[in-house]
Amino acid sequence: MIQTCLFPAAGYGTRFLPATKSLPKEMLPILTKPLIHYGVDEAREAGMSNMAFVTGRGKRALEDYFDISYELEHQISGTNKEYMLNDIRQLMDQCTFTFTRQMHMRGLGDAIYSGKRLVGDEAFGVILADDLCINEDGENVMSQMVKIYEKYRCSIVAVMEVSKDSVSSYGVVDGRFIEDDLIMVNDMIEKPDPSDAPTNLAIIGRYILTPDIFEIIENTNPGKNGEIQITDALLKQAQNGMVLAYKFKGRRFDCGSVSGFVEATNFFYEYENGRK
Ligand code: G1P
Repeated sequence: MIQTCLFPAAGYGTRFLPATKSLPKEMLPILTKPLIHYGVDEAREAGMSNMAFVTGRGKRALEDYFDISYELEHQISGTNKEYMLNDIRQLMDQCTFTFTRQMHMRGLGDAIYSGKRLVGDEAFGVILADDLCINEDGENVMSQMVKIYEKYRCSIVAVMEVSKDSVSSYGVVDGRFIEDDLIMVNDMIEKPDPSDAPTNLAIIGRYILTPDIFEIIENTNPGKNGEIQITDALLKQAQNGMVLAYKFKGRRFDCGSVSGFVEATNFFYEYENGRK
């Protein structure tokens, strides 16, 4: 059973300036729920209850969000708006929330490493909240990955096919299919030029990592853009053992971009109304 999900949330969100000048990008709402809430929902549904956040300066709103707001609760108690807090209250009852800060912006690998003490010596999930995923036809993406982990007991990355010219925005994997939707990774490159990309299979913000990844990150040199890349650490893990890439079922919205964010907003508006 995987208990912990790590949420790297230290990035500046510069694509959403000026909004992100004083608001963490993870707090931008799709309808009435902030992005981070969708991520925590996904982890909870996948059976995880220890939510661990790697934040940074200016991100206190994340801690406040997962805490009780006495004044607000007092004000709306007994009114017809009280139900609007039901979801978040339930989440707070079911989970624990721990926080640490990434001191320097040294990349995703370093952000994940900063969460080492919150994770301990067990396999854990990683969700990048600005990749918003939904599977209308069944289990969410992290739940799908947990099932694969239970069978193979190794690190797993979620991948999807992207157009050849957008591979430079992602970590890209190559390898051998061992099941219809499962690839044993033998190569991985962070944000390659389209001409150097071995495939168009792009990593999205869902990972399950085994705890030996921390020691590997410690020994990983800065890579693309001078940052410690989780992609580079995972390649080493693949070379020394096994890493799987999973073509997940469902769809993913890139809410780190304005167009993806708008697309997600429109989609969830239709989805929520359709369900009512
Ligand atoms: C990060 C990872 C990249 C991955 C992407 C998914 O990049 O470094 O490998 O494909 O997340 O969203 P970022 O988007 O943070 O630059």
